[in-house]
Amino acid sequence: MTIRANWNYPTAVRFGAGRIKELAEACKSSGIARPLFVTDPGLVNLPMTKEAIQQLKDAGLAVTVFSDVKGNPVESNVYAGIDQLRVGKCDGVVAFGGGSALDVGKVIAFMAGQTRPMWDFEDVGDWWTRADPNGIAPIVAVSTTAGTGSEVGRAGVITHEATHTKKVIFHPKMMPKVTILDPELTVGLPPKITAWTGMDALAHCIEAYCAPGFHPMADGIAVEGIRLVKEFLPKAVKTGDDIEARGAMLTAASMGATAFQKGLGGIHALSHPVGALYDTHHGLTNAVFMPYVLNFNRPAIEERIARLAAYLGLDRSFDSFVGWILDLRAEIGIPHTLAGLNVDDSRLDEIVAMAIVDPTAGGNPVPLDETAAKAIFRSAL
Ligand SMILES: [Fe+2]
Repeated sequence: MTIRANWNYPTAVRFGAGRIKELAEACKSSGIARPLFVTDPGLVNLPMTKEAIQQLKDAGLAVTVFSDVKGNPVESNVYAGIDQLRVGKCDGVVAFGGGSALDVGKVIAFMAGQTRPMWDFEDVGDWWTRADPNGIAPIVAVSTTAGTGSEVGRAGVITHEATHTKKVIFHPKMMPKVTILDPELTVGLPPKITAWTGMDALAHCIEAYCAPGFHPMADGIAVEGIRLVKEFLPKAVKTGDDIEARGAMLTAASMGATAFQKGLGGIHALSHPVGALYDTHHGLTNAVFMPYVLNFNRPAIEERIARLAAYLGLDRSFDSFVGWILDLRAEIGIPHTLAGLNVDDSRLDEIVAMAIVDPTAGGNPVPLDETAAKAIFRSAL
């Protein structure tokens, strides 16, 4: 059998404490003279954000600031941003923030020169080829949380309000030209958000590693990302100003998003509908589902997880790995069951129906049909 595969690796990443000082230079080297600075309402007035905007102005760049971005961004956020981009005659985007600001910033840049509506570019089949690649503005990404890894991804997630579903807008050219990973920008994250977003990064690494398909490079990145989470997530949660731990978690988040081009799986497939229906935090919801999905998938992943456990310095067994996940969850305050998210079985059928058609369901190592999704959800109750 001849194996054929598509492997895509991220972009230029500038990693290290204080490297936000290179933002203006990163814009210039990306061909941006008039950036639209996209962030969220919680960040826009923080000193670190104001300093970044001032830095751009001091360097002679004509900045327009846009921060009308919801926690789960919606279509109108993107279109409002496109309006600002046109008013400011912007020639590129600085996406500064967590997953929401990064996703909206990237989609605004993508839509800058398109003539078709945004939903025409949903990540379905080859719909991305409908886009005019010359109409995509360059992006510089600055991540201020360590979870989604959107700063090294080629897609943005936008909520379709009419159907309460999250849709993925994808294009290869949506990859930021430069990404800045500066751990000093994440020291202010509260312990809970640090824990929840960190568990999202871990879920990306684990699901990518377990997804079927030939992608040894993604597997290698996922495994080392999991090691970084194991060593540094508890430290980052407990000691927020531990720059080494913050840097390791930023890296693990970028690694998770790099690895999950291979696929995700049941954790995300169940977490997406629960998040959409109950407005629970994405990373926290993943963290609750994690051990139940692993146990359900055990027949397909036992040997692979045992190998991973050995790499992590645990006993070479599936049980020792799941044991570590349970200990980690307890240590950083993740609830053990769905009750901790105020989720019960009243919308089980709806959740199961949404989970099995979620775009991530196909990556689960055991086919995620109705029976499977129901069994996992019930175990998580
Ligand atoms: Fe995720």
